[in-house]
Amino acid sequence: MTDPLIDAAIRARENARADFSKFKVGAAVQDDTGRIHAGCNVENATYGLTVCAERVAIFKAISEGARKFVRVAVVADTGDLTPPCGACRQILWEFCGDVEIALANLAGKTETIRLGTLFPRAFDASFL
Ligand code: THU
Repeated sequence: MTDPLIDAAIRARENARADFSKFKVGAAVQDDTGRIHAGCNVENATYGLTVCAERVAIFKAISEGARKFVRVAVVADTGDLTPPCGACRQILWEFCGDVEIALANLAGKTETIRLGTLFPRAFDASFL
């Protein structure tokens, strides 16, 4: 059975600018209206200015007016499913909370995990 959120992440992955690492990632977030916003990683010659697929997807969504998110998908071409990096976990936590994350690869392997499991005891605005 196909999953539209994973499919959107797979399609976005094709647009990745991974010129340096050659490691293409696609991500997609679904907002509470059902709309899907996708993104890919965009690398930079300075390396440090690279933006991950997850942050591209969530920032795109926010810039389109989306405010609540129900699900996230992350796709890479790895046997061990690729989870969001630490920086993306922080950003996803602040904008999505304890959201469900579907990890997938191109061979059709998938796993669902909650962000709170990947990123326990997070710092966020509730501490400020
Ligand atoms: N990357 C992502 O886009 N998302 C992840 O979840 C892990 C890493 C990107 C950043 C960089 O462009 C490349 O993958 C290698 O780290």
